Amino acid sequence: MKFNARTIREAVTRAHSDYAVLEGGKNADYIPFLAGVPSSLVAVAVVTHDGQIVSCGDSEYRFAIESISKVCSLALALEDVGTDVLHEKVGADPTGLPFNSVLALELHNGKPLSPLVNAGAMSTVSLIDAIDKEERWQRILTMQRNLAGKGIALSDDVNQSEQSTNFHNRAIAWLLYSSGAMYSDPMDACDVYTRQCSTLINTIELATLGATLASGGINPLSRQRILKKENVPPILAEMMMEGLYGSSGDWAYSVGLPGKSGVGGGIVAVVPGVMGIAAFSPPLDEAGNSVRGQKIVASVAKELGYNLFDCN
Ligand code: DON
Repeated sequence: MKFNARTIREAVTRAHSDYAVLEGGKNADYIPFLAGVPSSLVAVAVVTHDGQIVSCGDSEYRFAIESISKVCSLALALEDVGTDVLHEKVGADPTGLPFNSVLALELHNGKPLSPLVNAGAMSTVSLIDAIDKEERWQRILTMQRNLAGKGIALSDDVNQSEQSTNFHNRAIAWLLYSSGAMYSDPMDACDVYTRQCSTLINTIELATLGATLASGGINPLSRQRILKKENVPPILAEMMMEGLYGSSGDWAYSVGLPGKSGVGGGIVAVVPGVMGIAAFSPPLDEAGNSVRGQKIVASVAKELGYNLFDCN
């Protein structure tokens, strides 16, 4: 597919100028590090399936990947154990509850339902092939780098901030263990999950993650096949159903693209076969999604005419 780079640039620039100063929302404060990130930062980037990059604003600023890391560990687990095992052991349905809900587990006999909520993500981490915690962590970090960019690295500051406050997630890990949905040592899985949330990514790399999925598992910048083609549709389905947590339905209704957000302020959407569209801005809405980021990604997608449910 050919792209008109000028059209993409216009859409990206317009979305940035329309929403860069939009008021509303506030930084996540339950992780101390995130509360201190400047709220005025705003970035947008598009990476196409043939490797073109268009960006605007603070697109090289590195921020905490947070929940977007769940897409990368889901991808790795699918490569390791396949779609049937993942479906049976973790599930593939929206919980309809917040991303860290204990109630969601209680309501479903301890089965997490989705790999994109905290419980499902820790269960997914525990399914990844590894002889020990360090190998599990290194394999996840390598997958983040292969999917999105070699510059991704652990932030000791973010990790320390998260490890010293992740008591709720530790409780979820033990609940998973008690219901038989945890497949490694629960505290190891929680530790690795916390580390995977604590890497720093920039908005161009985030759009590259989207573009790698859009390209059926081939990173359009490195030109390497990272995922088996058949593992991409289930990832996109999960993103469509649960990628923006309690707002996933609103997002599907209004934007019509699989997306994923993180409490660090990042958000990415995938136009299958075409491109990844990413944005970053720290203030979040009640559901945990970037207020400006959602508007910016939606605006670029609309301007370029991409909505999977559009029948034209
Ligand atoms: O587990 C947590 O609470 C965080 N490390 C990540 C949560 C997150 O990003 C949810 N997102 N929107």
